[in-house]
Amino acid sequence: MEMNIEEIVKQVLSEMQGNTSSAAPAAAPCKASGTIPATSKVAMLTALEHYDIKEFPIPEIGDDDILVKVEGCGVCGTDAHEFKRDPFGLIPVVLGHEGTGEIVKIGKNVKKDSAGKSLGLGDKVVTCMIFKDDPDITMFDLNKQNVGGADVYGLLPDDDVHLNGWFADYLVIRKGSTVFNVSELDLESRILIEPCAVLIHAVERAKTTGILRFNSRVVVQGCGPIGLICISILKTMGIQNIVAVDGEQKRLDFAKEMGASQTVNFKDHKGIEALAEGVKAAFGGYLADFAFQCTGSPIAHANIYKFIRNGGGLCELGFFINGGDATINPHFDICSKEITIVGSWVYTLRDYATTFEFLKGAQAIGLPMKKLITHKFPLSEINEAHVTNLKMEGLKIAIINE
Ligand SMILES: NC(=O)c1ccc[n+]([C@@H]2O[C@H](COP(=O)([O-])OP(=O)(O)OC[C@H]3O[C@@H](n4cnc5c(N)ncnc54)[C@H](O)[C@@H]3O)[C@@H](O)[C@H]2O)c1
Ligand SMILES: [Zn+2]
Repeated sequence: MEMNIEEIVKQVLSEMQGNTSSAAPAAAPCKASGTIPATSKVAMLTALEHYDIKEFPIPEIGDDDILVKVEGCGVCGTDAHEFKRDPFGLIPVVLGHEGTGEIVKIGKNVKKDSAGKSLGLGDKVVTCMIFKDDPDITMFDLNKQNVGGADVYGLLPDDDVHLNGWFADYLVIRKGSTVFNVSELDLESRILIEPCAVLIHAVERAKTTGILRFNSRVVVQGCGPIGLICISILKTMGIQNIVAVDGEQKRLDFAKEMGASQTVNFKDHKGIEALAEGVKAAFGGYLADFAFQCTGSPIAHANIYKFIRNGGGLCELGFFINGGDATINPHFDICSKEITIVGSWVYTLRDYATTFEFLKGAQAIGLPMKKLITHKFPLSEINEAHVTNLKMEGLKIAIINE
């Protein structure tokens, strides 16, 4: 690994001194594979709750750029917010940030991914954040805390390239982006990388409390994709005693497949005292050592303290966006119980690398990760995909290109 970084640094320094010719004598500006069409389709959100399929020319690929043929992309909660309300004011925009595809054209300066792994035609890739201020950053630069504030493909303002998001046939990855060669993972696993990285980060945050251990009793509240992935990571780590809480029986049943030892349906319990007793009973008469809060409900945040033992810990990750205020009693809920709380938001580049290994590990112990993708739509049916996502009938909805 260190060798790779050294090589990269040498290459960058050499190029800064104008020595590019020695690194690539008389090389073609870029390498290409297969027949690349002149134009690419993109799904552009042009109005609230409306995508248009548009077609734009595929631009020249610069020495530091990559052209990717998109294979698929997950629909995220953030896409749902953009579709409904455009909170980031991006319309018109090509969305899609949970995407993956194959390199079909690569600039002559691009030789390695952000982890130092070789990168070439035919490799399958995902992107993480775009560091415009520091384009040579790799995952070994730990000064970046998390992705918050950085740009990502799929949430970029429209420009004259247009091929800016993964809801498309082609994406242009430009200099300054972080890109990973994940050729060893299948398509579904690659689509799940981004949401899984959120949970890898949350578990890393939880571990900083010193309370989460192999034999901990862990409660996971909320069994949407986020809570279910949380359970699968805990299980893959070797934590056996996991209680899942939700109100949807189908999701609770799936939580068991993902590694929960017991489930508690909050609809079976009247009031928070009875619900806490239900959680305690599921642990054989004990409260949880640690809790993960994976819903966007302020009431659920207030409730979760009642499931945790004195001296226990909590990771709150359910509020990617503002969901309103929660009312708790600081004396009973935090002080007198001496609860250690961490918040978690998005991920770091390092979490991405951990995620690739987690996905292989989860597969190795037989967890049904791919079952998280409950619906697949072609790009031409992107409006239907979003409507299905809003109805919350499935778990992860994905666009799969033909
Ligand atoms: N920290 C981050 O960086 C990050 C990243 C992505 C998503 N999120 C957040 O994670 C949350 C969950 O995401 P998701 O995609 O799984 O959402 P989701 O809506 O599919 O799942 C939430 C689940 O919580 C359950 N629930 C609701 N109220 C509950 C209660 N009082 N007690 C128990 N269960 C309850 C629902 O039945 C549902 O199954 C969202 O609010 C999202 O904003 C955070
Ligand atoms: Zn997302």
